[in-house]
Amino acid sequence: MYKRTILVTCPKACAEYLAEELKSLGYEPTSLVSNGVFISGTYEDCIRLNLTLRTGLRVLWEVDNFTARDGEDLYHQAVRMPWEEWIPAEDAYISIVSSVRNETVVNTNFPNLRLKDAIVDRMREVTGDRPNSGNERDRGVIFLYWHEEEVCIYLDTSGIPISNRAYRAMPGAAPMRENLAASVIAATRWDKASPFLNPMCGSGTLAIEAALLASGVPGQQLRHEFAFQHFKPFDNARYQEIRAEVRKRVPDSLPFPIIASDIDRQAIRAAETNAKKAGVAHLIDFRVCDFREAPIPEESGTIVLNPEYGERLGEQRQLEATYKAIGDLFKQKCPGYWGYIFTGNKTLGKRVGLKTKRKIEFYNGPIECRLLEYELYGGTRNPKYQ
Ligand SMILES: C[S@@+](CC[C@H](N)C(=O)[O-])C[C@H]1O[C@@H](n2cnc3c(N)ncnc32)[C@H](O)[C@@H]1O
Repeated sequence: MYKRTILVTCPKACAEYLAEELKSLGYEPTSLVSNGVFISGTYEDCIRLNLTLRTGLRVLWEVDNFTARDGEDLYHQAVRMPWEEWIPAEDAYISIVSSVRNETVVNTNFPNLRLKDAIVDRMREVTGDRPNSGNERDRGVIFLYWHEEEVCIYLDTSGIPISNRAYRAMPGAAPMRENLAASVIAATRWDKASPFLNPMCGSGTLAIEAALLASGVPGQQLRHEFAFQHFKPFDNARYQEIRAEVRKRVPDSLPFPIIASDIDRQAIRAAETNAKKAGVAHLIDFRVCDFREAPIPEESGTIVLNPEYGERLGEQRQLEATYKAIGDLFKQKCPGYWGYIFTGNKTLGKRVGLKTKRKIEFYNGPIECRLLEYELYGGTRNPKYQ
């Protein structure tokens, strides 16, 4: 099967973690943009990536690129594309998603409509049948990139973003997206062989992602619905083989603890339910407790907290004391650990009162965030952490 350009998208500022993950899977990134990484690969590669990736958002397979001045130009070029190679003649359904920055476009829906018209007209002429269309993202999704005059058209082989791992039965109050949590873990120095502590775990995303990562379980092992199943190059027998190849059994135990705690009993209930669905509940020690009382094994390890930061939950004043108390916890109870705080509030970050080793840029949706890293001296330093 032939190779084409693949663009794997990710949250803003996460491309370097995605590029590393792609390299670990044997793909060579050709270029990086803030919210994505380009590689080259076949349709089967897209299937494999959809099943395995943790830090990605969507896997887009490029089917054409050209320049277009305006909507008519877009239509005339798109209607000449061999859509019948990718879209089934019978019972097909397509939806169009786009990123458009072209001065001739006033109505943002217009380019999507022109592209949809081109696809429908081409399909009707060649096959005698026309695909249905709408806004559902769980079937054939086409992604249109049109910036200035540059057009790239992709089959979106994910549809529903692959940040949706299908384990989140209970979302909790302010959950972190699964792929953001995976990128945050990738940004830490956790070696997947020592304690991983997640006080203030909320719905448990960081702890669950840590358990899945340590177990080597592919990101989307639980998920069974992807847009790639709705395009013509899809071969179900081959898909089942790839699923079987990448599948990993969750181990019975891990040689180090993963501890997730929260003061809110409901949050722990949600985290446990989600972990059970993900198949890793037995690998995580869940506790209902204040973060100051969270158990901290006497080895070196990694402790990651995602406190409220006043955007969606909690109030700034109260939070100042909380952030200071996290600093005290780090200083007094976590010698030998690497400490991390994920926050969207720089002022609160300063209340921690410890010197940061790194301030790593992230975005939680539109909110600019930082992962603050602290090297917590004292105790015996595990050589793996130097
Ligand atoms: C922003 S949420 C964490 C979201 C989490 N990363 C997730 O993916 O669901 C912050 C959590 O801190 C918890 N929390 C607030 N104050 C706490 C305290 N004093 N001790 C322990 N947990 C606390 C809240 O109950 C809430 O679940």
